[in-house]
Amino acid sequence: MKNKLEEIARQSKEAIAAAANPEALEGLRVKYLGKKGELSAVLKQLGSLSSEERPVIGQLANEIRAGIEKTLAEKNAALHSALLERRLRDEALDVTIPGRAFAVGARHPLRIVWDECVDIFTGMGFSVAEGPEIELAEYNFTRLNTGEGHPARDRQDTFYFTDDDRVLLRTQTSPVQLHVMESTRPPIRIISPGRVYRKDEVDATHSPMFHQMEGLVVDKGITMGDLKGTLNTLVRRLYGDDAKTRFRPHHFPFTEPSCEVDVQCFECHGEGCRVCKGEGWIEVLGAGMVHPRVLSGCGIDPDEYSGFAFGVGLERLAMRRFNISDLRLLFENDIRFLSQFN
Ligand code: PHE
Repeated sequence: MKNKLEEIARQSKEAIAAAANPEALEGLRVKYLGKKGELSAVLKQLGSLSSEERPVIGQLANEIRAGIEKTLAEKNAALHSALLERRLRDEALDVTIPGRAFAVGARHPLRIVWDECVDIFTGMGFSVAEGPEIELAEYNFTRLNTGEGHPARDRQDTFYFTDDDRVLLRTQTSPVQLHVMESTRPPIRIISPGRVYRKDEVDATHSPMFHQMEGLVVDKGITMGDLKGTLNTLVRRLYGDDAKTRFRPHHFPFTEPSCEVDVQCFECHGEGCRVCKGEGWIEVLGAGMVHPRVLSGCGIDPDEYSGFAFGVGLERLAMRRFNISDLRLLFENDIRFLSQFN
């Protein structure tokens, strides 16, 4: 019996030393010390011993039990600290590694002037209207007093969808005037920024797709004075309080009288330079008093109401604002260019 106990002591020591994880260790505890374990099995036989041997073997058994318990506890502690060390190593963070920089986008220069214009006009009580880019020739031309045979309708200049020239990509934002006047009654005060399309070859100042912002005001007693005041405000807000404007007579089929508005060159202040091509002035928009025929075509009585309209080229504003010399830069999506605007 003594031999048997010493065998258990030896075996358990070896097995515990070899245990790879806490689960295996728990298995060994049950195997040696459990109620149905090896030590208990031996102790059950104590009764068969003589009264001299019994206390000796009993004490030996107790010592062995205590020994196994101690070995188990030590091994348990060793396993846990090894586990902890491994986790510390695996989950280590090097807080000295530099952070990863995130590329933050920038607003496109066109969007910047677009937002600026919307800001300026909403501040004057205008709201923003939208219209379709795919338009009927009737809206893009006819009802804007631009009849069949007018040179602006030429197939050379306009993207038509159908052979009968009925559907097209709008060449201007002016058809939005009609949509607004059809769906709302005066007083009307809207702007409408958006894309327009013309069959132009791409060069430093032309693109087959560009952006305009239409403006329309219709109410009782609207005059050319209101037009001038509104557009002067726009120009001053964009280019500074000392910016000077010039209203030049012009012709548009859907306004009468019509004008083009120039801003005095910010570079040379009217002397003439490279930026303004020697003119001293830079054209920024077309405008005029809404033609009576356009008003009555939308069911608005031109004897009761009058209005003004204007169309601004947003690329021009952006190029002027940021000193961009080539229109193509705005559409090439070159990050080296675009990232200069954040
Ligand atoms: N639609 C005109 C253009 O594209 C601009 C304009 C708008 C002129 C409104 C007068 C009134 O040139």
